[in-house]
Amino acid sequence: MQNMDTIQDIDNIQDLEIVARQMRMDWDERALQNPRFFVQSAKSEWDDAEFFRSGEVNVANEVMPDIHRICGGSRSPRELTMVEIGCGVGRMTRMLSALFGKVYAVDVSAGMINSARRALGDYRNIEFLLTDGKSLYPIPADTVDFVFTFIVLQHIPSKDVIKSYFHEAFRILKPGGVFKAQLNGAAEDPQTQRVPDTWDGVRFSTQEMEDLASSSGFQMESITGCDTQYCWVFLRKPW
Ligand SMILES: C[S@@+](CC[C@H](N)C(=O)[O-])C[C@H]1O[C@@H](n2cnc3c(N)ncnc32)[C@H](O)[C@@H]1O
Repeated sequence: MQNMDTIQDIDNIQDLEIVARQMRMDWDERALQNPRFFVQSAKSEWDDAEFFRSGEVNVANEVMPDIHRICGGSRSPRELTMVEIGCGVGRMTRMLSALFGKVYAVDVSAGMINSARRALGDYRNIEFLLTDGKSLYPIPADTVDFVFTFIVLQHIPSKDVIKSYFHEAFRILKPGGVFKAQLNGAAEDPQTQRVPDTWDGVRFSTQEMEDLASSSGFQMESITGCDTQYCWVFLRKPW
């Protein structure tokens, strides 16, 4: 794939702008090539029904079991505002918009967002936002009930970028709001000197995830799937 140079020594560069530019370039290239495949690589060709059905299954498995904790008692999800970091072409966004009152669907790639807009333009409660790859600007502070991200952070090649998203999630959440995020917790193979790139991003130990959560101000309510690619943290902004 063109323009997909490996990012060397990213933790030493300390320049999030360079990483952000690389992420946008690479994901725009993927959006040109085969967006649905790069969003959900189980198949190279998807028809509309099965593609959006796969998103509904992920919402059923990763959001619905926590819906009472997210809503905090008697509220309906229709009363809540949520943010999906890395919405891609709207695979999960469609179902999230059926559940929640308002969805900010955020992505680093204009190509992905344009495809999502074409598919879901009629869903009036979705607001698409092109992010700079590391922040949730222009979403105001203390205005969101729930922030969610799935198969996105595992692709980011810099721990500093992920840290920035944790701080941003904390900023935009209301007190008592929830951040549920999937990170790659699989151990590195000590035999290989893997260099993270925008496809195979950074990985976190359980201790690093706990530190990331607490240094961003969150209380960790649960962590599951430790030591696997599908490690989930469920975090709450204190009241
Ligand atoms: C594998 S796709 C998953 C999309 C969606 N979460 C889903 O499950 O259908 C990863 C998405 O994350 C986006 N992405 C990658 N790096 C990002 C970043 N730093 N900030 C926001 N979005 C990012 C990509 O453009 C892509 O749309």
